[in-house]
Amino acid sequence: MNLAMPLPRIENRLCRNPAGERAELLAGLLQPEARINPKYFYDDLGCEIFTRICQLDEYYPTRTEESIFRAYAQQMACQLPDNAQWIDLGCGDCAKSRRWMDGLAPDRLIGIDIAADFLGLSLADLAAGYPRVECVGVVSDFTQQLDIAGLLAERPDSPPVFFYPGSSIGNFARADALHLLRSIHHHCGSAGRLLIGVDLVKPTDILESAYDDAEGVTAGFNLNVLNVVNRELDGDFQLEDFRHRAIFDRQQSRIEMQLVAKRDLVVRLGDSNRSFREGEHILTEYSHKYTPDGFAAILKEAGYAQPAVWTDPDGWFGIFLAGPV
Ligand code: AVJ
Repeated sequence: MNLAMPLPRIENRLCRNPAGERAELLAGLLQPEARINPKYFYDDLGCEIFTRICQLDEYYPTRTEESIFRAYAQQMACQLPDNAQWIDLGCGDCAKSRRWMDGLAPDRLIGIDIAADFLGLSLADLAAGYPRVECVGVVSDFTQQLDIAGLLAERPDSPPVFFYPGSSIGNFARADALHLLRSIHHHCGSAGRLLIGVDLVKPTDILESAYDDAEGVTAGFNLNVLNVVNRELDGDFQLEDFRHRAIFDRQQSRIEMQLVAKRDLVVRLGDSNRSFREGEHILTEYSHKYTPDGFAAILKEAGYAQPAVWTDPDGWFGIFLAGPV
């Protein structure tokens, strides 16, 4: 990194409540159907494993989404405002935003992520390559609260473009997805846009092998969450006591990832205990799959106008571009 470059401005809006978060994690594990919020997947090792998942033959979403952007980004750019403020929701290393810095040339990039250190480095790197673009980082959990009205108002003539690729919206139950889409809509003003990647319904065998690959990378990703729980709650989960399972529930139209107990056992979690019967499971993740019409209907319910939709030739993944009215 070139330290002579001006560093991007970083605002920290993350209100951490570690005791409250631990209590919530424990409460989930003590429920009759034990559950762990998928946000706990992403410790350093989890992030590393997720990168490997994205490169698996079976895990089609990442490369399919990328192929759609490659084919249609120019078309999409024609439908996006000039002088935009580009808001990358969950920007990570900002890799997916880069092409738009040339293709759309926004005035400003706002990267929002919970990982503060990583955000600073990614934005500094991007800012060095695009001196014309003002880069601002916001450390926040936008899934809890998207609170950037004041920031956007600093550039009243730059309409916001919210960029939410990767189908992370799939992690949310319908009501929570709707809530997030509404809060984005609320920030759109009259000229803003939402550009969002959404994984689509497809045959069960393709879906299930994407979440249960032959090499066992996804199994390792799922099991690693028990390491995170052990650290957070002073627990004694033994990873070899559980096995990974991914099933597509067509009724609910979602992949459900579980960790299934291989035998009757008791886990200590700090001062608490949780027993599992053989075959009993912990729910670790939902990944909802939509039809193009189904997602358009949610967008409509959240207040957006009829979206433009681009898909791959197989119709496996969709990119939706929606405006506020
Ligand atoms: C990051 C939520 C989009 O649901 O496909 C990948 C996470 N879990 N393999 C997804 C995930 C297992 C991923 N998202």
